[in-house]
Amino acid sequence: MRKCPWGRAALFALTGLLPSLPGAAGTPAERGRYLVTTILACGNCHSPRAADGSPLPGRELSGGLAFDTPAFTATAANITPDPDTGIGRWSDEEIARALTEGVRPGHAALGGVPLAAIMPAGFYKALTPADLAAVVAYLRSVPPVRNAVPPPVYKLPAVHARYPDAERRYDETTLRDPVVRGAYLATIGHCMECHTPRVRGVSDYETAMGRGGVEFSPALVQGIGAGFTSSTSSNITSHPVAGIGAWSDGEIRRAIADGVSRDGRRLRPPMAFRYYANMAEDDLDALVAWLRTVPPLP
Ligand code: HEC
Ligand code: HEC
Repeated sequence: MRKCPWGRAALFALTGLLPSLPGAAGTPAERGRYLVTTILACGNCHSPRAADGSPLPGRELSGGLAFDTPAFTATAANITPDPDTGIGRWSDEEIARALTEGVRPGHAALGGVPLAAIMPAGFYKALTPADLAAVVAYLRSVPPVRNAVPPPVYKLPAVHARYPDAERRYDETTLRDPVVRGAYLATIGHCMECHTPRVRGVSDYETAMGRGGVEFSPALVQGIGAGFTSSTSSNITSHPVAGIGAWSDGEIRRAIADGVSRDGRRLRPPMAFRYYANMAEDDLDALVAWLRTVPPLP
């Protein structure tokens, strides 16, 4: 569905009835649910899956994929409110701090020890205060599920690459600009973490942002589903041949939200299209508008 660019804005001004941001309607927990189950795709790592790769119903967020890298072995934690195996005993502030700083509270197992770098805290620090509170409110509202995940093993200190757009400050006013909102969504969705090659384990956002080529294998990521053999992230820069610069908006949206490439090929995991499928139209448009600004790379 296409909308004329000024139509909705004019309508907001006239009626004052519509939300200022897509997905912003309702209570904080509703906004949090929207974010967690779409662009943030927390369940893409934190929810256990059936053999076909689909999330196991009723067990969402109760512990998911296991990662085995030279730096760490870690399983995406149980982040339901179960007091013993989840984060039920953590305060709102403690959950927010784990999300944005990657640090566990002192009273938890491994208290104070930084989380493995695979947990995208360096991206979540860009969440606006309202969105961060919304995510915490939603996590508190999901049903507790008892499931103990194996403890992590750290082999090397956690190294985080600095993602430039995560250093920006976003607020209600700046987020009305579609390109800024797209940058925000791509940041909190950590799109470029998967789509940027690494140099000695550290993402090269400075010279290779969006170039793709990151390989995912069942040895590296366990629990994606029985049929998963491997996948390599695509070049999503605006390069007309190597990237998506020559694709139409509709083709880019179809890849993100339906998991179908331009040539009709079905995309493989861990591309999180299952989650992006429920994104608000305006948010998808904003994401596409921002992708168009990513400098082309061969
Ligand atoms: C790319 C995979 C990935 C994504 C996406 C992800 N996480 Fe995590 N998360 C992990 C892993 C792995 C761990 C465990 C790290 C460790 O043990 O060092 C973790 C740990 C955590 C913890 C600490 C829990 C504990 O008991 O120690 C919280 C809280 C958390 N994640 C919340 C979230 C939320 C909320 C989202 C979405 C906004 C999210 N995560 C997205 C992989 C991910
Ligand atoms: C957890 C890693 C991961 C995240 C996060 C991720 N992607 Fe992907 N993406 C992939 C992989 C892997 C592929 C290639 C899948 C394949 O070829 O089967 C892919 C494919 C794509 C494609 C298709 C390109 C083509 O040539 O077919 C687009 C477009 C895309 N991603 C955009 C995005 C956007 C935008 C985001 C953030 C909202 C995002 N991705 C987040 C891993 C990821």
